[in-house]
Amino acid sequence: MAYRVPFVDPQKHYSNLKDEIDAAITDCLSKGDLILRSQLEDFETNFASLVGTKYAVGLNSGYHALALSLLAAGIGAGDEVITVAHTFVASISAIVHCGATPVLIDVGKDYNMDMEKLESAITPNTKAVLPVHLNGRLCDMDRLMDIAKEHNLIIIEDAAQSVGGKYNGKVAGSFGLAGCFSHYPFKILGGFGDGGTLTTNDPDIARKTILLRYNGEDRETGEYHYHGYTCLLDNIQAAVLDVKLKHLPEWIKRRRAIAGLYRQGLSDIEDLFLPHFEGEKYFDVYQNYVIRTKKRDELYNYLEEQGVETLIHWKRPVWEHKGLKLGHLNLPETESICKEVISLPMSAETSDKHVEYTVKCIRNFFKQK
Ligand SMILES: Cc1ncc(COP(=O)(O)O)c(C=O)c1O
Repeated sequence: MAYRVPFVDPQKHYSNLKDEIDAAITDCLSKGDLILRSQLEDFETNFASLVGTKYAVGLNSGYHALALSLLAAGIGAGDEVITVAHTFVASISAIVHCGATPVLIDVGKDYNMDMEKLESAITPNTKAVLPVHLNGRLCDMDRLMDIAKEHNLIIIEDAAQSVGGKYNGKVAGSFGLAGCFSHYPFKILGGFGDGGTLTTNDPDIARKTILLRYNGEDRETGEYHYHGYTCLLDNIQAAVLDVKLKHLPEWIKRRRAIAGLYRQGLSDIEDLFLPHFEGEKYFDVYQNYVIRTKKRDELYNYLEEQGVETLIHWKRPVWEHKGLKLGHLNLPETESICKEVISLPMSAETSDKHVEYTVKCIRNFFKQK
């Protein structure tokens, strides 16, 4: 179905950048620069400078950034890692795959880790906390860093949805031992395929990740230090991401402007909870513009009929997927969120007209109710 307002618009995204992207890809192909070449190094240098860390390591997904961070930090069997249940499943799978036990806690009204719940989930086996900066908003990092310091816990940030987001002027991915980013095509900084980056200030984590991403091999000596993986960010994706990185500030500005337009158009509707949370410390980048209503399913269907494409992240709590073997959890906020949230069209290509039409449809929907 062709939507009048698409959720995202990858064709328009490409056509806006066509000349720069084509030149970057042609440069790689004509030089035969496919694996571990200067384009990857350039992207890593520029990404590290954006985040404000000493190192950035290009990987082939956000999942691998999480998995390799945990492995490089020495987390494994017998360790507990606390994260939230309201996240993309990869945050949890990375913990399971390194052999540790995920301990899932509830989130607060801003969809991020409820720090009140964190302290009571800590046990003598807790080794790390994996905060997820969801939808483009950072967690309460003052509180989290204090708790981590007090209990001597490692922090691995899942910043897959928050590239360029800030807390107290400090950028997502620069607080913990490692920051993990996704460049899945529809992320704020997305490639034309899968990709991810790990950021860190720790030379040991950076070195281990560089070895692990390339089958454990030190490319200079030929020595295999670990049983590793094949999970490099390939050169062409790195070249594409490096082009896109230059546009990131303008895209973030646009996303914040779109969020402002939604707020203007929708803030007086009762039974509609908008994602504008208090706190001067936060600089939100709106990977997703998530609204919340008890009439979610009806609203979703109505917008679909009107040609507005929306998405729901996520319809069922993770623990209800029996194959994940997470047991049964009782996390009321996570459960309600699954029934009530809906994400509106949001991308750098979303136009004012798209937003106006979406707002009009939502207003009509609530008028009829
Ligand atoms: C919060 C979160 N964590 C982890 C990931 C995993 O990233 P990727 O899809 O690049 O493996 C994603 C991506 O969808 C995500 O949104």
